[in-house]
Amino acid sequence: MKLVKTIDEMRAFRKATRKSGQRLGLVPTMGALHEGHLSLVRAAREKSDLVTVSIFVNPTQFGPNEDFAKYPRNLESDSALLQREKVDVIFTPSVEDMYPADAVTWVTVEGMSDRLCGKSRPGHFRGVTTVVSKLFHIIEPDVAFFGQKDAAQVAIIRRMVRDLNMPVAIEVCPIIRESDGLALSSRNAYLNPGERKSALVLSRSLQRVQKLFDEGKRDAERLITAGKQEFAKEPAARLDYFEIVDPDSLEPISTILQRALIAVAAFIGNTRLIDNILVDPQF
Ligand code: PAJ
Repeated sequence: MKLVKTIDEMRAFRKATRKSGQRLGLVPTMGALHEGHLSLVRAAREKSDLVTVSIFVNPTQFGPNEDFAKYPRNLESDSALLQREKVDVIFTPSVEDMYPADAVTWVTVEGMSDRLCGKSRPGHFRGVTTVVSKLFHIIEPDVAFFGQKDAAQVAIIRRMVRDLNMPVAIEVCPIIRESDGLALSSRNAYLNPGERKSALVLSRSLQRVQKLFDEGKRDAERLITAGKQEFAKEPAARLDYFEIVDPDSLEPISTILQRALIAVAAFIGNTRLIDNILVDPQF
């Protein structure tokens, strides 16, 4: 496994491998790796000849009062995990290399970037689409792997790739959860034991809505009310949003007649967590 720390070195590696026609799979991450990330790495290992994992805590996707400074950074343990998964390259550039001091160019998926997490985290998705574009340009992957955990991110990146004709296939992998239902997240490390219990309200609210959906309920407002009732019972949680939207456009849906994304975000103490389910009346 190769540890690549500069853009120049990454480009040189890619140029050399291009000639041999090997299919390169990229898993973009911010590190602090867990089984959710590793599921993407395994999918990449299965579907590509060369696997690159980028580890870059991207400052432009964090708001001024968010956790950029304290975001967990463990390159050594991350490298050990990736070595075990037979990853070929870890790309871990510095902030200075990725963002020259006078950089003023952004990639924005307009409209969609202001929905769901974009509403309460202004500029977040602009940071994501900018860094993912940069990673695609530097690494030139044939295929890139993302988790359904960040459903809005998936929809926005898919739209960006389509709108800008980026020559990369996007693969989406299912949400990996703890046995009690909590979706794995690097931010779960912030939770104290009491908060860890309270955090289950996210998956519990989604399970409740799933059950009502399975019983035939299709009215989004009623389903949202049922989901929110779970939060009313959990005082340690502060709901950010509970929404039902079209999974491709992220536009709100009033009656579920086709595939729908049910997405939730909430603060547990100071930790912001997200979760979601996809439902489809056709199945
Ligand atoms: P990060 O939060 O590190 O997540 C990296 C990838 O892992 C994302 O595609 C995310 O959806 C996926 N992932 C996280 N938790 C998961 C889980 N429980 N199950 C399945 N997949 C999971 O998302 C980012 O980084 C950044 O925004 C990034 C795309 C790297 C751009 O900076």
